[in-house]
Amino acid sequence: MGTEQRPEQPGEERMADRPRVIRRPNVQFEHHSYEEFSNRPFYVAIDRYTVSFAPVARRVIDNAAGTGAMIERLSEEEKLAPNFEVIAADIDRGALLSIKRNLEPVGGRINVVQADASRLPVPDGWAELMILGNSVHLFENPQDTFAETYRTLGSDGVLIINTAYERLRGYGDQQSKRILGAMILQARGSIIKKGYPEEIPAPLDLMKHTAGDLVNMAVQAGFRDVSFKTRPVRMDRDDIRAIFSYRDFAAGALPNVPFELAKGELLPTVDPNLQRRNIDALNRNWGILIATKV
Ligand SMILES: C[S@@+](CC[C@H](N)C(=O)[O-])C[C@H]1O[C@@H](n2cnc3c(N)ncnc32)[C@H](O)[C@@H]1O
Repeated sequence: MGTEQRPEQPGEERMADRPRVIRRPNVQFEHHSYEEFSNRPFYVAIDRYTVSFAPVARRVIDNAAGTGAMIERLSEEEKLAPNFEVIAADIDRGALLSIKRNLEPVGGRINVVQADASRLPVPDGWAELMILGNSVHLFENPQDTFAETYRTLGSDGVLIINTAYERLRGYGDQQSKRILGAMILQARGSIIKKGYPEEIPAPLDLMKHTAGDLVNMAVQAGFRDVSFKTRPVRMDRDDIRAIFSYRDFAAGALPNVPFELAKGELLPTVDPNLQRRNIDALNRNWGILIATKV
């Protein structure tokens, strides 16, 4: 049997040589509740659109990386330069373990570090690109993270942020806002009715910042070339179920309620609420901020 390789055809892409990150065939390991949501097609699409604004970069920080969704999107969009080094930082150790388990860098490296988004163990000016995906709304003092981003980027370094929680336009329309609220309220009512002994505080308000607030924070941190885009998204019933199955979402929607109980009561609210209004999706707007350090 010959082992000789077929000669490469002109223009043929040599996949083996392209720096990229591939998903390992799934090994048996604890499942992270975020992965179901972050692999929904609509979410993959919005993250891909977000990183399409990134330059090709060799030194990248994926800040608040979660399970590494943005690293995969950077790879798909061919934004990783040869010998790339990605630092994936998050406060959640479980999420970082998931990156180590699932993602295999080809032609580069991924280093995971457990760190707060505003205190990264990275030297000044190290990065060419920082991605802060779907997390800025979670920070108590996001301006500290903008300052840290500015510190860790080199000159001409680019920061890209996305969030579904822009205060003025996060909900695609009033009906979508009302229906999501009704689902959460129903789940809460059902838990109380079943005799849950603790108080259930109001849902966390994550829509704290307008696009203008975020742009101002970037400018105050020193960024000079700052823009903000809005991208409409439709979340269908499976997308809504996936977000209800995500531990951090359930904890914010029904504070003080154990995850399995919260999830178990949220999921059955989806179909009846959509059917009653004769709709099959909720509208949402993702915001995308792009800033350059000059
Ligand atoms: C919704 S996930 C987003 C993950 C990923 N960046 C993406 O776009 O899909 C939010 C992540 O932010 C992380 N996070 C929340 N607060 C943080 C903080 N103060 N410092 C670092 N990470 C934080 C959470 O652990 C979680 O992994």
